[in-house]
Amino acid sequence: MNAPEQNGCDDAGRGQFKSRLGFVLAAAGSAVGLGNLWRFPYLTYKYGGAGEEGGGAGTFVLVYLLCIALVCLPLILAEILVGKRGRRNPVGSFNAIRPGTRWNIVGYMGIATGFLILSYYAVVAGWSIEYTYKSVINEFAGFETAISDSEAAQALGAKLTSERRGIGEARAGDSVWVVDGNPEEFKAKLIAKKAELYPQHLFSQFVANPVKQVGYFLAFMVLTVILVLGGVAGGIERGNKIMMPLLLLMLVVLAIRVLTLDGGGRIIGYLFKPSISTLSWDLVLGAMGQAFFSLSVGMGALLTYGSYLGPKDRIDTSSAAIPAIDSSVALLASIVVCGAIISFGLAMTGSGTGNVFTAIPVIFQSIPGGRWLVVLFYLLVTIAALTSTISLLEVVASYMIDERKMKRTEAVLISAAAISAVGILCALSFNLLAGYTLFNMTFFDLLDYLCSNILLPVGGILIAVFVGWVMRHDEKRQELACMNPIVYRIWNVLLKFLAPAAILAVLVGQFIFRA
Ligand code: PFF
Repeated sequence: MNAPEQNGCDDAGRGQFKSRLGFVLAAAGSAVGLGNLWRFPYLTYKYGGAGEEGGGAGTFVLVYLLCIALVCLPLILAEILVGKRGRRNPVGSFNAIRPGTRWNIVGYMGIATGFLILSYYAVVAGWSIEYTYKSVINEFAGFETAISDSEAAQALGAKLTSERRGIGEARAGDSVWVVDGNPEEFKAKLIAKKAELYPQHLFSQFVANPVKQVGYFLAFMVLTVILVLGGVAGGIERGNKIMMPLLLLMLVVLAIRVLTLDGGGRIIGYLFKPSISTLSWDLVLGAMGQAFFSLSVGMGALLTYGSYLGPKDRIDTSSAAIPAIDSSVALLASIVVCGAIISFGLAMTGSGTGNVFTAIPVIFQSIPGGRWLVVLFYLLVTIAALTSTISLLEVVASYMIDERKMKRTEAVLISAAAISAVGILCALSFNLLAGYTLFNMTFFDLLDYLCSNILLPVGGILIAVFVGWVMRHDEKRQELACMNPIVYRIWNVLLKFLAPAAILAVLVGQFIFRA
């Protein structure tokens, strides 16, 4: 690292990371988030099903890792390089490198994407605050009284009757059911079903409450603002230095707990034994889409963090550290979530966002010590989401600081207020505005679709083309002085040909396969 100023600012008065570790942790913090903790486990389960090793989960994980190595890794380095050379926000960096051209559109697109992602991402992030609270007060424990016998019996497919008596009946409270198996076993199943249903009730009740949705969303925005207001070295770097290692530690503790469950070890074969027969176009697209979202590639978040590096900072090795940390967290999260689901034979529900909030409490209730582990888990989700939201807000704020010449406080507060206005509509998409849909999607779904399926991939292609084809070798070499020449060539070829072609396939493919 080049000598930092006392106040963590470079000569242009911009923020600057005080250490390379600070940069790596901040960038990894941006990458690690809800995408790793609910989306990755959800997708591995989606492709792997409740099956055993050798299923689609192993294939999905393999393709995902290949996408990271061949497509996302070159792109990460390209994005950081643009930021480091431009030393500005996404718009300013393109302007600085190719003045007078329209390449700054890529920057504007990135800022718009960051703005939109934050507006819905912070809604889900807000849920993690409520769930940390719910787990502290142990709200999930109230399932026996909160769910009626008949509701649980119905969910189990048992027939309710007040007439027949005799063998094959089970009685709980005032109700009697005709059941096929052993009545005692049925009663145990009934209680287990209640424990499974209750978190789903809590979740639907929670998202249906507009005041809570908006309140938690705004609370999360306030948390994000506080950290971003601290500036680069003060807020973002210090926050990540504490939060990232804590997060990894928490996940390792949870993974060890799950692996030592009865049958917990089966998850290793499930996740790491691919089978060619499960390979499908849809699986490849799913794995690649997840890689982009999870690594925060394509919208200028990494570019912005790269702009806070000094001219002599080495970026090639730092770029490799980001996907390594990100995929480790994703894999650990899958071990925890899928491992527990497989061991317990639980069916995952809903679209995926709900799983972390509905399946996890069930899982941890049946683990000794789970009452506190679940607190740890939701705290972890909150921390991971926070390190991502600060990077999103920083993209928008850095544009206002550099291009609109605003002070940091003013820039952060104005950006956050505008994002909150859009975010409130997202928070209301689950309740008051649930009926307003376009292409069968609520406002929340629509933004998610637009950002992850269209804006991020398009941004990725444009960055690859800019760095691969438009920037000259001498410009790139200046930023990558320490990079091995052979590695540099491989990177350049991947960036010129494979990355744009692969992203284009994702983009076109998802339209073909949605039809
Ligand atoms: N990578 C984050 C996650 O996996 O949760 C989401 C994200 C953050 C995407 C920042 C894009 C971004 F710029």
